[in-house]
Amino acid sequence: MRSHAIAAIPADGIGPEVISAGLRVLAALAQRLGDVRFDVETFGWGSDHYRKHGVMMPADGLATLKTFDAIYFGAVGAPDVPDHVTLWGLRLPICQGFDQYANVRPTRILPGITPPLRHCGPGDLDWVIVRENSEGEYSGHGGRAHKGLPEEVGTEVAIFTRVGVTRIMRYAFGLARSRPRKLLTVVTKSNAQRHGMVMWDEIAAEVAQEFPDVAWDKMLVDAMTVRMTLKPRSLDTIVATNLHADILSDLAGALAGSLGVAPTANIDPQRRFPSMFEPIHGSAFDITGKGIANPVASFWTAAQMLEHLGEPEAAARLMRAIERVTGAGILTPDLGGTATTRDVTEAVVDAIHSSN
Ligand code: NAI
Ligand code: MG
Repeated sequence: MRSHAIAAIPADGIGPEVISAGLRVLAALAQRLGDVRFDVETFGWGSDHYRKHGVMMPADGLATLKTFDAIYFGAVGAPDVPDHVTLWGLRLPICQGFDQYANVRPTRILPGITPPLRHCGPGDLDWVIVRENSEGEYSGHGGRAHKGLPEEVGTEVAIFTRVGVTRIMRYAFGLARSRPRKLLTVVTKSNAQRHGMVMWDEIAAEVAQEFPDVAWDKMLVDAMTVRMTLKPRSLDTIVATNLHADILSDLAGALAGSLGVAPTANIDPQRRFPSMFEPIHGSAFDITGKGIANPVASFWTAAQMLEHLGEPEAAARLMRAIERVTGAGILTPDLGGTATTRDVTEAVVDAIHSSN
């Protein structure tokens, strides 16, 4: 029996709804496969913890998480706590503390989903966005001077290091190589931002030499939004900075039908620390507690987690079950359906048990 220790952090809003759905599906997979076990411990960190204790997680939170094989994360964000507090109090310390420098975001149009683009069906949009996840525009550098005075200054400094850019570029080229089309698009803004972004372009060209079998091209981020919308078939693997990829992957999620299906993995490729798996979406206060949150993103990221844990068969089985359910039109309201979180979850559980 193989066993994997998973730390679940459902956190805020619809986080607990989609993570409990995901844990139910993981339990069904373990039952179906019979030779794998998931030892899950759930942590009640997030905005409730903040309201009670003034911090989003305990001071020894990272030390606790370090002993797990993977982290399964919901979402942070609450109407009454500032977003920079929730984000910098829980999600970013985990990503940065565990040096999860590769943020991997697959996007595909699942069967049964009508995407917003005309003439774009399943198979026409199949991307993986690789987001640099440890530095760039989200490195936390900067500050404010003369606070509250008319001459107040705020700076937000983007940090790009040769080590950081080289390692994400290697990861992206390697991922592109592992996919059938072996095609990578490197996104920057090296016309207007002439230091760090030009360095990105130079390092991309250097790393490309190590991957002669991968075809690659460059795009400016603004033009990239146009290409994603008008020529989705021309793209496969995409690499971009922390900020650019954050924005592009929300667009990608929308083009695939809903943010409610978009997953993401925060990976430490060197496996020194546990990696973290989460839906891309946030805590969605507008639908919290209504039982209609789409659990597909949390299922898909669970499939990414299974891949990372060395359980490709379980991952593939889970993806087939998800596609069977979306293909059968069992969809939550964000995808135009009438199914509840529970309906979708039970249908995926049934598909896991009934498929061979
Ligand atoms: P959001 O992703 O929470 O919601 C955007 C829209 O998408 C809402 O209309 C929501 O109902 C819908 N939506 C999102 N996930 C859905 C799902 N699974 N099923 C059905 N519909 C879904 O983004 P928003 O509203 O900008 O932010 C809300 C809070 O979440 C904020 O506090 C924000 O800071 C936080 N946030 C946290 C993230 C994280 O923990 N990784 C990521 C994005 C936002
Ligand atoms: Mg985002």
